[in-house]
Amino acid sequence: MIQFVVNDATCTRCGQCVLDCPSQIIERSGDAPPRIRVENEENCIQCQHCLAVCPAAAISIAGRNPADSIALASGSFPALDTMTNLVRGRRSVRRYRDENVDPRLLRRLLAALGNAPTGCNRMGLTFSVIDDKDAMQRFRIQAMNGLAEVTKAGRLSESFGFISEAAPAWFDRGEDIVFRGAPHLLVVSAAPESVCPQEDVNLALAYFELMAQSAGLGTVWCGLAKMVLELLPDLRDVVGVAPGNYYYAMLFGLPAVRYARTVQRDGGARVKRIQVP
Ligand SMILES: Cc1cc2nc3c(=O)[nH]c(=O)nc-3n(C[C@H](O)[C@H](O)[C@H](O)COP(=O)(O)O)c2cc1C
Repeated sequence: MIQFVVNDATCTRCGQCVLDCPSQIIERSGDAPPRIRVENEENCIQCQHCLAVCPAAAISIAGRNPADSIALASGSFPALDTMTNLVRGRRSVRRYRDENVDPRLLRRLLAALGNAPTGCNRMGLTFSVIDDKDAMQRFRIQAMNGLAEVTKAGRLSESFGFISEAAPAWFDRGEDIVFRGAPHLLVVSAAPESVCPQEDVNLALAYFELMAQSAGLGTVWCGLAKMVLELLPDLRDVVGVAPGNYYYAMLFGLPAVRYARTVQRDGGARVKRIQVP
């Protein structure tokens, strides 16, 4: 049951919900309020566009009250200059303070992250987070011990590259080249039935990175942490990534570094104008 409810008294019959529904299952007939036929309900992707687009706040779906949404007006979004500064000024942070991030901030970021787009709005992402620096330290030690065992067993050939240096760096110099001393880890994973698991996971992490950095946190995408999880299934179980799920990892925490300016990579990607024959 998708619970598509229209307030007959406030609906102006403007038809915006009909026009905006990506599944085209909202209908109008005469002067009656818009409706979704029972036989079409299974085509609803639960995107809530009907609730979001209604100028009169007359539509509720899946039990959501439009009054609980944030009203959008011009100026509700960050200005382009602010967004561009964020995209240019965000950095991969590899030095962290030995402190926990405020759990209220973390809850706020992760809740908002549920709004990131997913293919066909399947959602179905899991955010696995180490929110405590002492737990992260235990995780780090287990990872380094595991990597040392894997190295000893000859399973870490040079083809694994940088990761083969992780255990020696840790045990010889106390240097953490995998988790960068970060107090927290976020692993986003996607259920196998997702339509676009890799895109969904990486988009969620990209959104997390921008939100977290706008809140003063440091983040770094961590391919090395992913390699560690690939090599050590026991740790993957600790994180709670189900076998067969796609996942990726990001470290975050309060930064122990402040960047004074942006880098200059505006020409970093080639822009190709498509010539349509
Ligand atoms: C998919 C991906 C994986 C990455 N993995 C690591 C990693 O394992 N360790 C690390 O220190 N940085 C990692 N990075 C960060 C990149 O090295 C970094 O983005 C790049 O050097 C540019 O620096 P910037 O992010 O500060 O602009 C990764 C970045 C991406 C996008």
